[in-house]
Amino acid sequence: MATGRKQFDDFAQLYDELFSQVCDYKKEVDYYHRILKRHNVKSILEIGCGTAHRSKYFINKGYSYVGLDISKSMIALAKKHYPSTKLIVGDVRNLKLKRKFDAVIFLGKGSIYLNTNKEIMDALKSIKKVMDKGLIIIDSFNASFIIPNFRTNVKWSKKISDKIITRKSKNTLNLKTGWTWGRDVTYLVNKKKVFTDTSILRAFSKEEMKNFFDYSGIKVLKFIEDGDTLVSIGKI
Ligand SMILES: C[S@@+](CC[C@H](N)C(=O)[O-])C[C@H]1O[C@@H](n2cnc3c(N)ncnc32)[C@H](O)[C@@H]1O
Repeated sequence: MATGRKQFDDFAQLYDELFSQVCDYKKEVDYYHRILKRHNVKSILEIGCGTAHRSKYFINKGYSYVGLDISKSMIALAKKHYPSTKLIVGDVRNLKLKRKFDAVIFLGKGSIYLNTNKEIMDALKSIKKVMDKGLIIIDSFNASFIIPNFRTNVKWSKKISDKIITRKSKNTLNLKTGWTWGRDVTYLVNKKKVFTDTSILRAFSKEEMKNFFDYSGIKVLKFIEDGDTLVSIGKI
């Protein structure tokens, strides 16, 4: 069972503050734009868009963009940042949209919450319903990197104006359910605990993603491996 919703509802404000400083969304959009334009993509649905910081860069490049996230709080914040952008609450496992898109992208590792094979298969089936043809791009943790380099205790901090935000994670590998692990995470602001969460997370191997794409009738175009990240690009 995906555990994204409650975590991200409670955590949207802090997530936004932190990751808008940590992630280079412009660089990412520039990178994916080079792939999307080769396939003549004009319209994009971004799944798990969070607070939608990629939207402005995609829209500036001329794409028609819709952002979707399971978390109402993420979408509420996204709407504050980008009031004229189409942003909706929804679940990738059960998309209910009438419109079709040339590309569906699921970036920022939202896929780590699709813990079971059924969930990823439901997600792919549901994504296909909102496309006639086009590209599917999913980034995930790469099992080939994550598992051999598995770290039990991870701590990092980032200074954002007058605040130091620290994230401490305690990870417990559980290979009985796949490339999965339990993560207890604590966020501290200036050493004060502000948020805790327990989730099950999942990494994917290229071979698994190929099988999921094959079973869903999606042609594998390309896999990109970069450190802990696996980007799977499929075409229908
Ligand atoms: C790690 S955050 C990434 C947010 C944003 N893409 C970014 O890169 O900053 C993962 C996002 O996926 C969303 N999410 C998790 N499970 C989802 C699902 N089943 N359907 C749609 N969104 C989901 C979460 O609510 C969260 O906003």
